[in-house]
This record gives sequence, C-alpha cells and structure tokens, in this order.
Amino acid sequence: MSSVYKAMKKAEEEQSGTQTKESDALPLSELTSLAQGSEADDSITVRISAVEITDLKLRTESRIFGQDENTAAGTEQFRLLLGRLLHLQTRTPLKRLLITSARRGEGKTHVSANLAITMARETGRRVLLVDADFRKPDVHKVFGIPNEFGLSDILRKGRDTWKAIRKVKGLNLYLLTAGSAIDEPPAPSSLLMLKEPLDEINPAFDCVIIDSPPVLVAADAPLLAKLADGILFVVGASETPRDVVIKAKGMLGSVPVVGAVLNSARRVSDRHAYDNEQDKIHKHKKEATENGEAQKVLDGIFR
Ligand SMILES: Nc1ncnc2c1ncn2[C@@H]1O[C@H](COP(=O)(O)OP(=O)(O)OP(=O)(O)O)[C@@H](O)[C@H]1O
Ligand SMILES: [Mg+2]
Repeated sequence: MSSVYKAMKKAEEEQSGTQTKESDALPLSELTSLAQGSEADDSITVRISAVEITDLKLRTESRIFGQDENTAAGTEQFRLLLGRLLHLQTRTPLKRLLITSARRGEGKTHVSANLAITMARETGRRVLLVDADFRKPDVHKVFGIPNEFGLSDILRKGRDTWKAIRKVKGLNLYLLTAGSAIDEPPAPSSLLMLKEPLDEINPAFDCVIIDSPPVLVAADAPLLAKLADGILFVVGASETPRDVVIKAKGMLGSVPVVGAVLNSARRVSDRHAYDNEQDKIHKHKKEATENGEAQKVLDGIFR
C-alpha cells in the first residue's frame, strides 16, 4: 500500500502552544469553511479568467489518487495531510508552501501533485502548483500536459506569467510547469528573480505549492525556500538515513519547516509481486515496523 505519513503535528503544537492530539483536529469540512478566500482584485480576476484551460491525461504511473477506488488508501492519506495543512493555515500565514526532500526520488512531485489536486477537489480553493525543479521537471509528465511555456520561460525570456499558467478543466487547480528553457538549469542566484512573477500572481490564489529539487543536489531548494512561507519536507520511508535528513534540514535556513511527510514511495504490491501470500504478510509486517521506526526518527528531527 502506498502511504503518506504525517508529521505536521509538531508544527501545529508549536503554533498553538498546546499538545494537539489527533482527535482534537477539526474535521475537514469545518476547516474548509474556515479557509480564506483569495484576495484577487478586478484586474487579477480578469487575468485569471483568461488563462488557458487544459484536460489532464492521467496514466496509472501518474499515481494521482482519487481517480478510482483502488487508490482509496492514498486518497485518505492526502485528505489527512490536507486537514493538517488547513489547520495550520488557520493559525499562521502559509500561502506559499515549498515541497522538498534531502535526495532524489523521495516523492516530492508525488506529494506536491496529490496535495494540490486534493486541496482543489476537497475545498474548492484556488490552488496553483508550480514546478520549480528545473533539473528534473516532472509535473507536466504526471498530469500529461504540455510544457512549452513555463516558469523557466518567465525567468529567462520574460514571458508573461499569466500566459504560462494553465487551469485544469473542472477543477480550481492551476499548473505552472517548469517550461522549455531548461537546457541548462538557471543559475541558483537567478532563482530569487522569481519573486516578482510569483508576487504578481499571488493574490489570485489561496495556496501556491512549489515542487523543488532536493536540498542536497544543488543550491536551488534553499534559495527557493526564501520565496515560500513554509516548507514541507518529504522523506522516503526506510530509504534516507537520519543524518542525511538532518544535514538537509540544516541547509534550509530560517524558513520554517512546517511539517514532514514520510512517504512510502514503492508499494508493497510492486515490491513483492512475486512473493507468495505468507512472504507478503511477513514483509508487510516488517515494513510497517520500519515505517513506525522511521516515524519516530522523523518526530525526533522535526521536533
Ligand atoms: N506514495 C507513493 N505511492 C506510489 N508511488 C509513489 C509514491 N511516492 C512516489 N511514487 C513514485 O515514485 C517515483 C518517484 O517519486 P517522485 O517523482 O514524486 O519523487 P521526487 O522526489 O519528485 O523525485 P525527483 O527528486 O527525481 O524529482 C515516481 O514514479 C512516483 O510516481
Ligand atoms: Mg520530482
């Protein structure tokens, strides 16, 4: 089973000064009604209503949950994560959220995409997902949409930001892909120039989720973090050593890490497709124990 585990409780406690228990959390329906509307003025309303509308072409490998009952467990995990995020947003300004991890392949794009679509579906809020991983852009692949204009074209070619944004048909989900100007990744120092276009479109959205490269492969993520209100840190379950997570977290500077997601990137069914039932049960139990241990480690790091 794919699982996205939560570790946002600690950040909630710090914000509230109380020990928040799972059972104290407000139900999603109430949090949704507390959610702030976007503060878009008339000119922004005009711009956003003119953005191109796109259909998604989701494939099984996209791993976007909520399309059918086979992904019910994953859908539920993202609803839980969304609930925690909305809870935090009622207490602290947290409109722009950077998603990162220590290393490649821990599930940043998976978490960014599923969190964004879950928020748009469940709350109807206007959500923008930005692909700022110029080194390995994947958002357009996951959603099956074109990538000819995007963030890199805004940065390098001065393209109109609004023209690079696409709205997903039937949802309040907007996508800003990495774009075509990525033959060479932009110099990290130029990333701070993204502040202006992001500020320009900010009032149109209730939440902006930024998918980024891993902290330990380039200087990008710590710089992109400066453009965000908070960071959600993804940790691949049982795959990333504790000291690697600590090192990466330490490189993120003063922007608050509001939570961590323990992501089980590979499904048990994928990993053990050729095992007999007995072996599967044994390995499943072992993995559950490993995930429990990993969660304890995370709780210690993101305390
Ligand atoms: N919880 C999950 N359930 C099922 N598949 C997952 C899960 N998390 C990640 N994957 C799959 O694992 C692969 C790696 O995930 P993803 O691309 O999100 O990682 P990433 O951190 O964005 O990687 P990179 O650093 O290379 O951009 C993808 O094929 C993704 O669909
Ligand atoms: Mg990615």
